[in-house]
Amino acid sequence: MSTSGEDSTLLDVDLRATVRRPGRDGDSADAEEPRPTGRAVDPAQARATRTLPEPAPLQSHGPARVVALCNQKGGVGKTTSTINLGAALTEYGRRVLLVDFDPQGALSVGLGIQPHQLDRTIYDVLMESSVTLDDVLLKTNVPGMDLVPSNIDLSAAEVQLVNEVAREQTLARALAPALPDYDLVLIDCQPSLGLLTVNALTAADGVIIPLECEFFSLRGVALLIDTIEKVRERLNPRLHIEGILATMYDSRTVHGREVFARVVEAFGDTVYDTVITRTVRFPETTVAGEPITTWAPSSSGALQYRNLAKEVLTR
Ligand SMILES: Nc1ncnc2c1ncn2[C@@H]1O[C@H](COP(=O)(O)OP(=O)(O)OP(=O)(O)O)[C@@H](O)[C@H]1O
Ligand SMILES: [Mg+2]
Repeated sequence: MSTSGEDSTLLDVDLRATVRRPGRDGDSADAEEPRPTGRAVDPAQARATRTLPEPAPLQSHGPARVVALCNQKGGVGKTTSTINLGAALTEYGRRVLLVDFDPQGALSVGLGIQPHQLDRTIYDVLMESSVTLDDVLLKTNVPGMDLVPSNIDLSAAEVQLVNEVAREQTLARALAPALPDYDLVLIDCQPSLGLLTVNALTAADGVIIPLECEFFSLRGVALLIDTIEKVRERLNPRLHIEGILATMYDSRTVHGREVFARVVEAFGDTVYDTVITRTVRFPETTVAGEPITTWAPSSSGALQYRNLAKEVLTR
């Protein structure tokens, strides 16, 4: 996959042609367009979807595959995907550890935990050798899914780690003892490419890049892929891109359809067949503090994350 800066420019320039100036009669750029008629093609549906096998039950667990959900752009669905992919994986009998690696603690909140009330979090595991992962690990309401929580304390780690020896490997060292107990570890990264994210990439086997289906989302992808390649060359030769996940897809807008088509054109099979559509169910789940797979088990969102879980287990 090419990652040159030119590619991102190409994506940007071409996509500009896909948005239409709103008419004078008041319709705004983000107003929903009518549902496409039979002639309008939904590229997400039109894309040949492979039939995925049901994941085989496991006889034993571990060692875990570590996957970082990473995109330096904010609000693209990293945390939502971490929670719901994790919960869907447990439905296939996988043991899952979620690592909140964002000082905002949104992953912890999304699982009904008040992170500011916690005495010890991932921050303490990183900074104090006497604190182990077991000391901070929490069970979630989803059987088979545990959480390493985070809160605002973690924001200090970025600065404090700078003077550490092997500072980029701090998270990998902290996670190592837990790997035999889980099948998958999912790390929810913060929206930046700073030292914490480099730690997540150094600890990971693979990266899932959630990508919101709108124009500005594409701008930073080349830089992200560049960072992933640097980490692979210098720190973690195992690291690879597991897949790009299109999120917040709205097939009703020409723009959404065009952006998705262009993402597939640029990244090919790296893009998961599963597309997460935009629905108010997801913000609701955050308030409820539980995954969509239990909040609205037969909703399209729950089905999509189950399908993603199958794809992740197949790749
Ligand atoms: N498919 C979706 N449809 C509608 N809303 C969504 C969808 N996925 C996520 N959201 C909502 O969008 C907001 C941002 O999502 P989320 O927190 O998962 O993004 P993020 O990439 O983790 O953000 P940050 O970069 O701030 O950590 C949240 O309010 C979430 O509920
Ligand atoms: Mg987040």
